[in-house]
Amino acid sequence: MKRRQFLTLTAATLAAPALLTRRAVAAEPGAPLPIPQVMEVGPGAGNTLTAMKGTRAFIDGTASNTLGYEQDYLGPLLRFQRGRTANIDVVNRTDDPITAHWHGMHVPGHLDGGPQLAFDPGKTWSPELPVDHPAATLWYHSHVHGRTADQVYRGLAGMIIIDDPDVVDPLPRDYGVNDFPLIVQDRSFDRSGRMTYDLGMMDMMLGFRGSEILVNGAIRPKLTVPAGLVRLRLLNASNARMYNFSFTDGRQFHQVASDGGLLPAPVAMESLRLAPAERAEIVVDFTDRSAVRLVSRNVSSGGMMGGGGIMGGGDNAAPLDIMSFDVGGAAAIGPVTLPASLPSDMSDLGAPVRTRDFTLNVHAGSMIGSMFNNLIGRDGQIMGINGESYDMGRIDLTVPMGETELWRINTDMMVHPFHVHGTSFQVVKMGGRPVDPKQVGLKDVVLVEGATEILVRFDKQAKNETPFMYHCHILEHEDAGMMGQFTVG
Ligand code: C2O
Ligand code: CU
Ligand code: CU
Repeated sequence: MKRRQFLTLTAATLAAPALLTRRAVAAEPGAPLPIPQVMEVGPGAGNTLTAMKGTRAFIDGTASNTLGYEQDYLGPLLRFQRGRTANIDVVNRTDDPITAHWHGMHVPGHLDGGPQLAFDPGKTWSPELPVDHPAATLWYHSHVHGRTADQVYRGLAGMIIIDDPDVVDPLPRDYGVNDFPLIVQDRSFDRSGRMTYDLGMMDMMLGFRGSEILVNGAIRPKLTVPAGLVRLRLLNASNARMYNFSFTDGRQFHQVASDGGLLPAPVAMESLRLAPAERAEIVVDFTDRSAVRLVSRNVSSGGMMGGGGIMGGGDNAAPLDIMSFDVGGAAAIGPVTLPASLPSDMSDLGAPVRTRDFTLNVHAGSMIGSMFNNLIGRDGQIMGINGESYDMGRIDLTVPMGETELWRINTDMMVHPFHVHGTSFQVVKMGGRPVDPKQVGLKDVVLVEGATEILVRFDKQAKNETPFMYHCHILEHEDAGMMGQFTVG
């Protein structure tokens, strides 16, 4: 960013954040929802996940330069089975180092795909994943330090479904029929319809927000569902945008799973908030056959705390269209009623044996700081945790295996989605208030908007060379250093 540009932006920013809203392209919504191809990954050779360059015309036939796994943008839906090894060859045919991080999966550090496991173009990484994880909706994405935001933005991400053959849930489970993946992202496009990722000052501070909503890579698509119960696996794969999902007719739906697997019982709701990297499985009843749209309404805490302030985060007050549904001729398929309880894997973690404190920092004076860092071409100095910016060569914590800990997470300025590798945790306090972990479910991301407490235990090893990460999942914050790393042993 040139200096003159910066000054203009700052003035505009402080006076009227709305001026920063990117021009919305007149995109044609309503293409059919793309359903990612399934790649069943089991033991043995033959499962290749090639990261490649591509082009995709998101708008009006204008090609954008993209990245994908096995395709031009995003990747196949990987299906792993609990208790069965998954062998996968990740091939790098891009121009830069990449990784494949199995976000949410309980695997040891050397298989986790974190920043230390970046590998160069032309190389292949062949992890053998012991799948020891309850049935869940997870995802995968590149995780190269300093490049994650850009690589995920361009397309290096996809969904993972873990099946547990011993625990068959009594929910809709016919993929592409009454069970759908919904990968929600926001992207910006220039006047010609080309996808763009230009970071301005506000994007560095608050994270990048695009002007268009994509689901599974298509702009505000349309899905025809059967007249019955339908399961939607929602993944917020946006770099920074938060969503508060609801249906235009205000219908009730049930959340049945969160990040790490099934809830103990369905939870009824009319709206659902998802921060970046969070997942939720919901079951929606389409028996009434009425067409409806999924929207996101006004997330007040999208930016600075106390939302609505001078930097309220740019989330618009009008509902944001996500996608639309109509009901096809087919009669109900699968279960017709929701069970009262679900075969959740949530267990009692017991009393914590120690407590750790984390504060997510946007350093004081960071507006000025980041301006100068930008001008002199240095970055990574403004975001941190407990006063320190991420350093690949520094281990921040050494955590003993198999012991329950209480992690208290605070933020000094903005709200941040805090993510921990290698395990699922239980949330006991959010926004300063106690919560019932059973309502929230097994998590690997928690939105920190005030005093937050989680109970966490690690059962997988992570050594010095390949530690686990904890970080803000606003990808621009993560890349700027709001990340730490720890060993488990
Ligand atoms: Cu989505 Cu460190 O990960
Ligand atoms: Cu992760
Ligand atoms: Cu953050």
